[in-house]
Amino acid sequence: MNFLFQGHAVEAKDGDTIAAALYRNGQRTFSRSFKYHRPRGLLCVAGKCPNCLMNVDGIPNIRTCITSVRDGMRVKAQNVFPSLETDWLSITQRFAWLMPVGWYYKTFTHRTSWHAVEPFIRKVAGLGEVLTTESRSYEHSWLHCDRAVIGGGWAGIEAAQAAGARGEQVVLVDDQPELGGQSRYRKRGGKVPSDLIERLQALPNVRILLDSYCFGLYEGNLLGIVQRNPHPGAVERLVHLRAEHTTVTTGAYETPLLFPNHDLPGVMLSTGVLRLLHLYGIQAGKRAVVVGARGATEEISAELRDAGIQVMATVSAEQVRTVTGSASVKGIQTEVGRFACDLIAVCGLEVPDAGLAVQAGGKLSWSAAHGMFLPTGLPKHVSLLGAAAGEGLRANVSIPLPPSKRAFVCLCSDVSSQDLCDGVAEGFDHIETLKRYTTTTMGPCQGRMCQLSAIGVCAHETGRSTAEIGVTTSRPPSPGVTLGALAGSGHNPIRRTPMHYAHEKLGVVWMDMSDWRRPRYYRTSPAFAEKECIQAEYRAVREAVGIIDVSTLGKLALRGADCGKLLDKVYTHRFSDLPPGRVRYALMCDEGGVILDDGTIARLGDDRYFITTTTGNLEFVQQWLDWYLAGTGWDVHIANVTAGYGAMNIAGPRSREVLSKLTHCDLASPAFPYMACREAEVGAIPVVMLRIGFVGETGWEIHCPAESAEGLWEALLEAGQESKIRPFGVEAQRLLRLEKRHVIVGVDTDALTNPYEADLAWAVKLEKPDFVGKACLSRAAVDLSRERLIGFVLRGPGLPQDGAAIVADGELAGRVTSTRHSPARQAAVGLGWVKVAQAKEGMTINVRVDGKLVPATITMQPFYDPEGGRLRQ
Ligand code: FES
Repeated sequence: MNFLFQGHAVEAKDGDTIAAALYRNGQRTFSRSFKYHRPRGLLCVAGKCPNCLMNVDGIPNIRTCITSVRDGMRVKAQNVFPSLETDWLSITQRFAWLMPVGWYYKTFTHRTSWHAVEPFIRKVAGLGEVLTTESRSYEHSWLHCDRAVIGGGWAGIEAAQAAGARGEQVVLVDDQPELGGQSRYRKRGGKVPSDLIERLQALPNVRILLDSYCFGLYEGNLLGIVQRNPHPGAVERLVHLRAEHTTVTTGAYETPLLFPNHDLPGVMLSTGVLRLLHLYGIQAGKRAVVVGARGATEEISAELRDAGIQVMATVSAEQVRTVTGSASVKGIQTEVGRFACDLIAVCGLEVPDAGLAVQAGGKLSWSAAHGMFLPTGLPKHVSLLGAAAGEGLRANVSIPLPPSKRAFVCLCSDVSSQDLCDGVAEGFDHIETLKRYTTTTMGPCQGRMCQLSAIGVCAHETGRSTAEIGVTTSRPPSPGVTLGALAGSGHNPIRRTPMHYAHEKLGVVWMDMSDWRRPRYYRTSPAFAEKECIQAEYRAVREAVGIIDVSTLGKLALRGADCGKLLDKVYTHRFSDLPPGRVRYALMCDEGGVILDDGTIARLGDDRYFITTTTGNLEFVQQWLDWYLAGTGWDVHIANVTAGYGAMNIAGPRSREVLSKLTHCDLASPAFPYMACREAEVGAIPVVMLRIGFVGETGWEIHCPAESAEGLWEALLEAGQESKIRPFGVEAQRLLRLEKRHVIVGVDTDALTNPYEADLAWAVKLEKPDFVGKACLSRAAVDLSRERLIGFVLRGPGLPQDGAAIVADGELAGRVTSTRHSPARQAAVGLGWVKVAQAKEGMTINVRVDGKLVPATITMQPFYDPEGGRLRQ
């Protein structure tokens, strides 16, 4: 198997991780440190430290020590200028004295100076760059089980086996490619018997997820798990695992000991050395010095000797004066002598990996007897076993202090012990504030490598005990998760109306609106440009008859004796007194009086109402109604019938003529007036007809069963041939409604707009006893102090863009929200927001068009048919 590293081919063996293959091929420097660009080599070989982060196939910050090699993969070093071996920015080490903790907060206090250096700091700061242009597949899956066991070591295998034998549905998650945990590389601790693993694997009710890591334990025992390479079609799968009980058996990890130059490539945790040796058959060096406390070094010393590595000496961290070498370890100077070596195996403190227990609500408390923080106070649905609970770990006497102030406590951010001391001296003497001020524990290792030492320094500098200092909070995700895994597959659902395929036959040009696909306009001839098509559709509605698909409107059917009460409570208008057979405009506001949605409400019978909402707000409106209904005991049943109904609006001076061909319903205005509704049949299809006029012409909105909608649409087009009927799309509809000055919620309103500002005061009935938003609207009614929505007619050429600036008296006065060229006014017209004092009929404002200010006249009237006579014909 071959892969490319910095453009050169590297050979890998089966089962190799990238780091193992590179180490076998002589690579010792794997990264450069974040701030001072110091060379860094493999340290933990377990995915716990920041030292092996590289860019793999365009994805930055991949831990190469736990990423298996794939044939042909491209691996690049990151955060290096220009190369791993020669990084010019390592010169920054010489100026470390100029860059103490918080230096840029303290140095660049003036706006100008910060702006001058910011681009440079941004360029050199940060880890990695997203280089990919390729698409990758990610996916999500959902699992439920009685017991989730996180960790596939000895304790995890036994816990899963016991639960499986009891008949529980078990999911066992382990981040390694094989079960066995540390017994796979710590041979002297005993091996998990293979028959135990086989018996576990044979249990049908136990599911094992290997090469998968759990990054968080959330409310309701929800575990976030990332499964690497679940199948050839996906690089990662995010598993949402909901468990009745979670058993955490994540073991323990080793942390570094601090001594001068302890971060040089070649200084490696003893468990890292053992992993290289037993998992990949790699000798980490030829001559080693073992550093650690008495009692901790025997295992690694014996293993090194067994592997043929010469052990030059065994010393304690306190005895180390410095490690020599520039690019990698060349030797070590200690109180007992100088030793030439190429490997320093560090037997660090063992720390229970109990982050998940803390996320579940447990606490980490200092145990003086064990010399470590142990989890306590776990909730009932979480248990902890094995090394994660501190079982079988070496007791630590105390947290060793860094021997010099130049030792790097935090490898992720190059925070030295001097930086921590400075932070404490400046008043950041709580471990949480010290963390934020210095960024210790905030890097990719999330405190695994540095938290204990930072606590030790903080305790020493403040004179408090380790127990008093405590630990920082563990929050998910830990370890990190790729954005691709969180996003999941590129699934982009599209909702189609029942007339979708009929539109395609008519030459539709689509547009996306919320989840829906809607006709933007119809290209009836390839020779016609968009503008001509839209103008033709506009003329059809104004001069003859047009028909538009409005199935995307949200539709709710309400039944019950108390529907009127609920609608009175939730909408600003009154609906309990709406006579059956009538329709009213419906405006919904929040408690602050801000417009949330609008639509129509038709009363079909004494206890039956039919609501339409805007296309994108259906779910919200339904939730809002449910919320205000909850606990009232009112007799109201709400059904979302949006998918069950197709809807179309037939409008124009000849619409009655067309519609009457297909129905016996009396459509004459005296029998079926404006703002009336009827249940009738059109083309033998049962329908609900609302006589409303969003586009400003005589028209009917017809709602029919979805399965009949396409047939009815085609029947109306057929019936309208002689009357020159034409389908029209959203673009023509927006122009037609703008000429009537009808507001679109969310386009002409924003997150602060109330009905008084939007010129919709007539839709608010303050005399109602109570409704949502009444208190604020009562104040807004008498104190219109912010802005007002106005209409304007441009007095010059051009068409302003939506959002264009409005200028009055030489000052910015507001912005345009909607604008179109109006055939009715032969000018550009629009809606916009201006200050209340400027919102006066006939007043001149200036609108920015193509970089110039063009005068416009304010009008508070519709631009077309201001009396509304055409609607009522
Ligand atoms: S060496 Fe890879 S994460 Fe530590």
